[in-house]
Amino acid sequence: MSINKKFVDQFVNITSKAALASSYLVGKKDKNAADKAAVDSMRSELNKLSIKGQIVIGEGELDEAPMLYVGEELGNKNGPELDIAVDPLEGTNFAANNLPGALSVIAVAEKNNLFNAPETYMEKISTKVKEKNVIDLDNSVKKNISNLSDYLNKNPENLTACILDRPRHNQIIDELKKMRVNLKLISDGDVSGALLVTDEKYNVDIFLGTGGGPEGVLAAAALDAFDCSFQGRFLFKTDIDIIRAKKMGIKDLSKKYELNEIVSGDSLFCATGITSGDLVRGIEIQDNEFISETLVTHKSSDLKRVIKLKQNI
Ligand code: FBP
Repeated sequence: MSINKKFVDQFVNITSKAALASSYLVGKKDKNAADKAAVDSMRSELNKLSIKGQIVIGEGELDEAPMLYVGEELGNKNGPELDIAVDPLEGTNFAANNLPGALSVIAVAEKNNLFNAPETYMEKISTKVKEKNVIDLDNSVKKNISNLSDYLNKNPENLTACILDRPRHNQIIDELKKMRVNLKLISDGDVSGALLVTDEKYNVDIFLGTGGGPEGVLAAAALDAFDCSFQGRFLFKTDIDIIRAKKMGIKDLSKKYELNEIVSGDSLFCATGITSGDLVRGIEIQDNEFISETLVTHKSSDLKRVIKLKQNI
């Protein structure tokens, strides 16, 4: 089974419209309003689709989020059963402060093929290298970098590592500095960060560090289509996090997840730029039209490219 190719255009349209809705609030210093605009648009467009969709990653649990909550059913129910992960506005600070890199993101898989990730942090690692025993979440930073350096036949000082610029990463960053690895420190937006390993043009060899779990699942869907590697491990800080995770069926709280345990089978991924960033350009409005750029992957048709659209507003 696979996801019909006709859905590609439909999902590109959904993230493009959500990006447009949010773009009106770029630079207004109001993260919540920018997020809400994207959420409202995305939900109403998803409900127009001929699918029996269910949110596996969304705006939170039903008690926290009235829209696009985990478990919400979407679509007119006349179509395939799909798991849907959404991040209508990835990079709320970017949108609020008019900085590069805000995206509207959706990942879709056939039912029961997309991991229902808890709203908690995740330790992540992604590279282009698929061979086993080169890069592993369980290895030290030093070992991963020297393995990668041997594997790619590049000195560590010619490797670039992307990581969120956070105090919790000080030790990793120090280790990378000691090895003279080039850093690409991102202030937010680790869906995009994780995807910078997919193409040499971004000049990033490894993405690592801790960020949002839901963002990890979204990135994994695209990384799968790009035939890159990804591993993730959830980090549970509070008792509430732990109770929630157990309720979601997670038994081993310290399990290391391989890419194919996070996303399997066919998948579709769309990320439309709200503000211009590394992956795609942001929304451009010209009179009654808008131009959007969406990074799209559809695994079964081996589609992985940026789609540029000009549409009426
Ligand atoms: P939001 O769009 O929800 O603000 O998330 C932005 C983000 O940078 C994610 O890309 C990342 O996974 C997460 O926040 C990191 O969390 P924190 O800011 O707590 O380190």
